[in-house]
Amino acid sequence: TLPPGFSAPARVIAHRGASGSAPENTLSAFRLAHELGARWVEFDVRLTTDGRPVVFHDDHLDRTTDGGGPLAETPLSALGDLDAGQWFDPAFAGELVPTLEEVLDLLSDMGMGANIELKPHPGHERETAEISLSVARELWPPEAPPLLISSFSDSALAVARDVAPQWPRGLVVGALADDWRDRAAQVAAWSIHCDAELLNARGVAEVLDAGYRVMVYTVNDPGRAVNLWDWGVDSIITDRPEALLSLAGS
Ligand code: G3P
Ligand code: MG
Repeated sequence: TLPPGFSAPARVIAHRGASGSAPENTLSAFRLAHELGARWVEFDVRLTTDGRPVVFHDDHLDRTTDGGGPLAETPLSALGDLDAGQWFDPAFAGELVPTLEEVLDLLSDMGMGANIELKPHPGHERETAEISLSVARELWPPEAPPLLISSFSDSALAVARDVAPQWPRGLVVGALADDWRDRAAQVAAWSIHCDAELLNARGVAEVLDAGYRVMVYTVNDPGRAVNLWDWGVDSIITDRPEALLSLAGS
């Protein structure tokens, strides 16, 4: 169950911000998600080599910045020199890789809810969860919408359960393998986050019957989204919130 006073996540969650129309995981992408009418965003958190949580998806800098190499071997100070917008569109030149602090400040100013996906570098599960959640605990106003803490990493979620039990946890599974129930029980998950491509109606029913919420990623096709909601999916994580919001109902 959600803590008292917490409302459930929105039916439409903007994946890495409005990443279909702005460079993913940047302040512009989160602002645009808000402008488009989304009430929740999903984003990825990783640690720099000096242990600072930043909002970034890949393990390497190459795809989404003009830098290169592993983020986990890069200090925060070096990220300030990198352009994280130009690769997407020259109109976004000058966009930076944001820190977790910057993103949470912006989201709480805009009154948005957030699904923080912890993406620990292998072997750094504990510190990624501990540091990210301690930053979130300090910054996130108690009266704001809830944070939903998700991860593919069971160890990161176990730390989240221990250090921030007030925030619900989502287990990101990809496909629903045989062990999903045990894994969800271990971390006392609230929701199961499935790859929509690997999910069918029976899988949705199985998760709902077991008492968990079902979130899916990443769905940009409106017809597919309606189909998933019909199966009972609670929230859809999408790069194109503008395409799904009018279909989402309440
Ligand atoms: O959190 C859902 C989804 O974002 C998980 O996959 O690779 O897009 O972070 P990925
Ligand atoms: Mg993610």
